[in-house]
Amino acid sequence: MSKREFALSTKIIHGEKHEMNPFGSLQMPIFQTSTFEFENTAQGAARFAGKEAGYIYSRLGSPTNTVIEEKIALLEGAEAGCAFASGMGAISASTSTFLKTGNRLVADKALYGCTFALFSHKLPEFGIDVEFVDFRDIAAVKKALSKKTDMVYCETIANPTMKVVDIEEIATMAHNANKDCLVVIDNTFATGLICKPIELGADIVVHSATKYLNGHGDVIAGFAASSAELMTTIKLVGLKDLTGSVLGPQDAFLINRGMKTLTLRMEKHCSNAMKIAKALENDKRIKTIYYPGLESHPDAKIIKRILAMPGGMIAFEPETAEIAEKMMNNVKLCILAVSLGDAETLIEHPGSMTHSTYNDEQMKEAGFSKRLVRLSVGLEDPDDIIWDLMQALDIATK
Ligand SMILES: Cc1ncc(COP(=O)(O)O)c(C=O)c1O
Repeated sequence: MSKREFALSTKIIHGEKHEMNPFGSLQMPIFQTSTFEFENTAQGAARFAGKEAGYIYSRLGSPTNTVIEEKIALLEGAEAGCAFASGMGAISASTSTFLKTGNRLVADKALYGCTFALFSHKLPEFGIDVEFVDFRDIAAVKKALSKKTDMVYCETIANPTMKVVDIEEIATMAHNANKDCLVVIDNTFATGLICKPIELGADIVVHSATKYLNGHGDVIAGFAASSAELMTTIKLVGLKDLTGSVLGPQDAFLINRGMKTLTLRMEKHCSNAMKIAKALENDKRIKTIYYPGLESHPDAKIIKRILAMPGGMIAFEPETAEIAEKMMNNVKLCILAVSLGDAETLIEHPGSMTHSTYNDEQMKEAGFSKRLVRLSVGLEDPDDIIWDLMQALDIATK
């Protein structure tokens, strides 16, 4: 019989093959149940002992969640995946499962605001030594790494600066410093369609599935993906005991639906963003623009090597913070809201919103200012989005 390795776009529609469910329904049903019946005590004991496959209790896994966990593993080129109730659930479970008092975490300076808060405030309270380094500066990373480094963390396309670091080099350096060091990458902005950090040497990928993976702005969810061995620990410690950050079956169903159109949506997000970024780059009122698709991006060389597409996120700075604020207050089509990866174009101010966990000095260190505007390019007609940004800029600069 002939065999074929299907394309990723096909795999994330079909997922792994399973036995047909009793009614042959095309979609995996929403298993709205907290617990699962055992045939007898021996079966219950065998499942708890991990000697028999099967469901026990929905905090430990459920069929609706299994479908999307298998899909994230396919998408990320990982052995296993795990769904969480939020991206922060995935991040806190995947990091704190492995970090204990006296351990050391080296993280990039530009991170999603709540990740930065977790690393700069909470982990140190548990006696974890956290050092923030600019991962663009390879010499500084090298200096920060040692055999005492237990974890290294950064984002594929950093929020909000769009910095793209050399994950391959960072992972190699981290593992050379300490072969047991875990390299954790937040792949939210890229997804496995654009970059596969595990293939580049990372150990664990985390996601806010709230964003592109769902794509419709109606669910909060997260994922982690890694080797089967690491994932068992994350599930049994980080999810089951530490955070209990379990994704409900209705949300899992919506994530599954969203993931089926990820390829189509991502291609459109990218082509729209490219057109918009070029229009903004050509406008003298925009002083700096960061978009991974532009030749002017400071990491253009790395981007060509590790990103398959430039993504749907743009950051830019008008001349002053006042102009930025006035512009955001005068959009007519774009929506002033945090989050990203939705069909609607969302515009926001990292300095006072998603990244208000950074003080002014930390913002400067991380490479952004109060002038920065973040745009999550949606799926509308790109000319309509450009029209809206330009009319808002006209008002803001009058
Ligand atoms: C890069 C990144 N990682 C993680 C998160 C957190 O995800 P969630 O809001 O689903 O908890 C976000 C949220 O904006 C994000 O932008």
